[in-house]
Amino acid sequence: MKRSEINSILDQAISFLDERRFLLPPFAFWSAEDWKGRGEECKDIPAQQLGWDITDFGSGDFDKMGLFLFTIRNGDVEDARGKSYAEKILIVQPGQVTPTHFHFLKMEDIINRGGGKLVIQLWNSTEDKGLADSEVAVMCDGVERRVPAGGKIVLEPGESVTLPPFLYHAFWGEGETVLVGEVSRVNDDRTDNYFHDPVGRFPDIEEDEAPRHLLTMDYPSYYSHAGDATGGAY
Ligand SMILES: [Fe+2]
Repeated sequence: MKRSEINSILDQAISFLDERRFLLPPFAFWSAEDWKGRGEECKDIPAQQLGWDITDFGSGDFDKMGLFLFTIRNGDVEDARGKSYAEKILIVQPGQVTPTHFHFLKMEDIINRGGGKLVIQLWNSTEDKGLADSEVAVMCDGVERRVPAGGKIVLEPGESVTLPPFLYHAFWGEGETVLVGEVSRVNDDRTDNYFHDPVGRFPDIEEDEAPRHLLTMDYPSYYSHAGDATGGAY
């Protein structure tokens, strides 16, 4: 992806979040220059992969296959006394697919926080990480829903679903742009995601202009206490 495309997606996302009155913490709006001047007191931000995360999954076509996320809170999976939970905000466009994947550890609630509908396609997984042909049962706001393998559930604004580990899911918006919340177990996206068909989780960026704000994958290039932090979460 070109940096100019990422910058314009960021601009549109910030306007959309503003319209929906969804407010972000201060570090969301730090510039690359701000990051260069920051000290160790901010090291949890890259370590926990907090912040902007935009990907086209290597598709080259963000509108068809891609996802916008901001990780608001997360912890360290290795730290038994640390945060055991995480929260993200996602923006999903009509017809914009997040490809079929599951998580090894993360259980997540996916919440339609307003806008269009969110369609989620579901499969159980087999022992060898295939798509099972068995019926899928999920909890949606305290009510069980059952669909055949590869069946879809549609979340209207206000509705949510709980996705346990090893449950394959793909999703996209319908009708209009959807603001999607994610409340989950603490997670490390560098190791916890398994895609049924191999995709690139993080975009290759062509630097045709300066970054408006840093993505989580940019921290090591601008912030001296970023360690080996890369990537983001969904
Ligand atoms: Fe997921």
